Amino acid sequence: MALREITNKDIRAVLKEHEQHRDSLIPILQGIQKKLGYISEEAVEVISSHLNISENDIYGVATFYAQFRFTRPGDHIVKVCQGTACHVRGCKRIMNEAIKYLGISAGETTPDYKFSLESVACFGSCALSPVVVIDDTVHGRMTAQNMKRLLKAIE
Ligand code: FES
Repeated sequence: MALREITNKDIRAVLKEHEQHRDSLIPILQGIQKKLGYISEEAVEVISSHLNISENDIYGVATFYAQFRFTRPGDHIVKVCQGTACHVRGCKRIMNEAIKYLGISAGETTPDYKFSLESVACFGSCALSPVVVIDDTVHGRMTAQNMKRLLKAIE
């Protein structure tokens, strides 16, 4: 997913698609995340005044749902499985390769916002372990060498 520039205009466009009512909070948050890739502080401020809900309440609701992200993600999301099957088949070496290549830890985004690196418990594709998902593409039977090759190809 290519990341878009966060603008007030984008946020307002999402607000327009929903009723100006507290019940619209979750669909609005989903719409903003879909459009912008995350829920920015600016978005929370705008939603707060639009729906007359305090920013604290919005964060309270939004953090309850794991689907919402509050930091700007990279253009490419690299997820490395750390589940048991993948662990047994060497996912640690793959994660270490990604950490070394990108210069960030799991849970972080590169300063140029090109990549975010995430650790995932299990993709449910254990037969393909070790598994890495880059954006929406699943890469099974991954090796550290292939990890590096894939990241290089994206750059
Ligand atoms: S443990 Fe990695 S996909 Fe299940």
